[in-house]
Order: sequence, then structure tokens, then C-alpha cells
Amino acid sequence: MPAWTSARPIEARSRVAVASTRPPAASSLAQPSRRAVAVVRALVFAAALLPLLRLVALGYADALSANPVEFVTRSTGTWTLVMLCLTLSVTPLRRLLGWPWLLRLRRMLGLYAFFYGTLHFTTWLWLDQWFDLSSMISDVVERPFVTVGFTAFVLMLPLAATSTQSMMRRLGRRWQELHRLVYAIAVLGVLHFWWHKAGKNDLSEPIVYAGVVAVLLGFRALWPLTRRAPTSGSARQAPLERE
Ligand code: HEM
Repeated sequence: MPAWTSARPIEARSRVAVASTRPPAASSLAQPSRRAVAVVRALVFAAALLPLLRLVALGYADALSANPVEFVTRSTGTWTLVMLCLTLSVTPLRRLLGWPWLLRLRRMLGLYAFFYGTLHFTTWLWLDQWFDLSSMISDVVERPFVTVGFTAFVLMLPLAATSTQSMMRRLGRRWQELHRLVYAIAVLGVLHFWWHKAGKNDLSEPIVYAGVVAVLLGFRALWPLTRRAPTSGSARQAPLERE
């Protein structure tokens, strides 16, 4: 399911799908109360704000290193990638643990990825390029790693714009197809990071992110192969599990 930003309707449907393939949940972790899910959502929301608060605190203390623009660009870029990975990890975790409620976190995490991506892009646009259009165009055209990052960000725009329940309903099946773009965005994000660090001869971090994204996307590709052929009863539900 490519729904990196949506939550409720798919969650409701996937409950049916999970229920059909698993015994009734014995643990309260699999089916927590509404209140418990609301608490987890609030905690995740607050935790995802911490990288921004840290930057604000460091800025306030004049402790953003000798090159604050580079520091902020790198920090927001890193958190964009982290949020993308977390968004992509919701479905594998939901399937492996049998916790359908995890889907309630996906839209928030996806929007946080977009939020940090926007901060990252804005830092470049404003503090690095000073809104100089010709300088921006040459940077995007002349530095391949910026071209790739820019492409990834542009691809995020339609996903953020269609992240609401109403857009999901209006687009129907096309919504799922559109939101498959998140896979391309994650790959481009890693490529952007990789290219950036390759110029500095230090691939230690990009290798880790590349591995994480490969595992998360590989899981999606291989998961259907681990399932038995659907019976006539579950055949109707199979597409609901697909991403
Ligand atoms: C999905 C979108 C994006 C992701 C995931 C992303 C991620 C990253 C990451 C992880 C870094 C390196 C951080 C480090 O060195 O520790 C980085 C650096 C950078 N990114 Fe992005 N980025 C994205 C989009 C963009 C866009 C749209 C631009 C500008 C058009 C951009 C411009 C840069 C620049 C200039 C740097 C180098 C900063 C420096 O070392 O001075 N990125 N990005």
C-alpha cells in the first residue's frame, strides 16, 4: 500500500485484512484503546518536532557551528531522510507485528518528512541562494546531487497536496498510484546524500541509509511472495493489503 500519508480509511480496511489472516489479537499492543493510540500519536508528534527545537535552541545559543547555513542544511536534510525512512517502515512493522493501528502514524510521519524537506529546501533557497533565480538554476543544473535533491522535493509536492482524506476519496485508486512516488522519493533522497558525500570521500552514512531503504523497499517486493495464494474468501481483501 503506497499510502505514506493517509491513515484512517485504509486502516479500517486493513483491520479486516489482518483479521482474516491472523488469529484474534491476544495482546493489547495489537489492539490498543483509542486513547492509547491518541497518546502514542501525540508522543510521536512531539518527538518529531525535537530536531527543529534543537536547531532553534542552538541558534538561540549562537551554537550552530562556524557555518550555520551548512549546519542547518545538513540537519534538515538528514531529518527529511529519517522521516522518509520512518514513514516507509510503518507498513513492514504493521505486517510483521500485526499492529494495524500503526497506520495511524503514517500520514503524520509523511507530513513531517515534507516539513523537514521544506525547511531544507527553504534554507538552500533563502540562506544559501538568497532567492537569486539564476544562481538557483545554475546550482540545480550544474551540481548533480542538487538536481537529484530538487527532483525528490518536487515529487513530494503532489503527495503533500493530496494527503487529506477528501483528496484520497476524490482520487480513489489513482491516489494509491500517485502515492507510490514515495518509493522514488526515498531512492532519490539516498542518491542525493550519496552523491553529496561521494564528493567528500565519506560514504559511511549514505551506505546505512541505502541499506535501510533497500530493506524497506525489498520487504514490500518480497512480502507478497511469502503469503499463500488467497482463498476465495480473502481474494477480495488482497488489494487492501497491497502497496
Ligand atoms: C527529499 C528531498 C531531500 C532529501 C531527503 C535531502 C537530504 C539531504 C541530506 C541527507 C544531506 C546531507 C546531510 C549531511 O551532510 O549530513 C543533504 C545535503 C544537501 N542538500 Fe538535500 N535533501 C533533499 C532535497 C534537497 C533540495 C530540494 C535541495 C536544494 C534544491 C537540497 C540541497 C542540499 C544541499 C545544498 C546540501 C549540502 C549541504 C552542505 O553540505 O552544505 N536538498 N540533503
